[in-house]
Amino acid sequence: MLFKLSPRLERVAAYVRPGAVPVDVGTDHAYVPIWLLQKGICARAYASDNKPGPLRRAAEDAARSGVGERLTLWLCDGLALCPPEAVDTVILAGMGGETMAHILSEAPWALERRLILQPQSKIPELRRWLAERSQAVLDAELAGDAGRLYLIWLVGPGEMDGAAAVDRPLLEKRDALLRPWLAEGIKRARNSLRGIEQAKLPDEAAIKALRAHLEQLEHARRETLTW
Ligand SMILES: C[S@@+](CC[C@H](N)C(=O)[O-])C[C@H]1O[C@@H](n2cnc3c(N)ncnc32)[C@H](O)[C@@H]1O
Repeated sequence: MLFKLSPRLERVAAYVRPGAVPVDVGTDHAYVPIWLLQKGICARAYASDNKPGPLRRAAEDAARSGVGERLTLWLCDGLALCPPEAVDTVILAGMGGETMAHILSEAPWALERRLILQPQSKIPELRRWLAERSQAVLDAELAGDAGRLYLIWLVGPGEMDGAAAVDRPLLEKRDALLRPWLAEGIKRARNSLRGIEQAKLPDEAAIKALRAHLEQLEHARRETLTW
């Protein structure tokens, strides 16, 4: 059985270097590690999930795909069972930013690995959390999948502005999906701003922060219009 990845997971997998030993945290179906093993990009891979059901199915799929012996599955929270020396690449995809920050707080060694993140929500919070730990988005791209847009980051040691609303690599690479991504973000930020401005006791600090965020998104959108 040959696996085919969705466009989102294909872009996540593209950040794994040939010969790497990755762990895919919150793996669910383990599509990414199975695919990497089948393609021969990796000789060995690890994956974890905190629910037994997905791992059972992942083990069956890995066996059916002929890679079961090269994929180790762990039932645990985040990286709790992963020996740091076993892996050189850590993948966290399809989870919220707060879950990713929790998993990385419990295993700070992961910040010294090649870190591939595809956060589904709380992206500004995760960006701030990474910046506070001297981590930067070294590369970024957007993937379109089933009518939705997804952000993928390659993270590593470096300085970045944790309050930045847009990742520099997306602008530098003139990512083709940045314009629709910004349009969505601007719409969401405007709605949130309207909501907090109309509250009985408006939170002035939150309003100021959101206005600054919106201004950055609008500035980036103006930049994309010159491309
Ligand atoms: C939406 S799925 C994403 C699956 C896959 N990574 C992807 O991107 O398609 C999220 C998975 O993360 C698992 N998960 C959530 N929190 C976790 C944690 N703290 N540790 C391990 N797995 C977790 C869930 O059980 C679920 O299987």
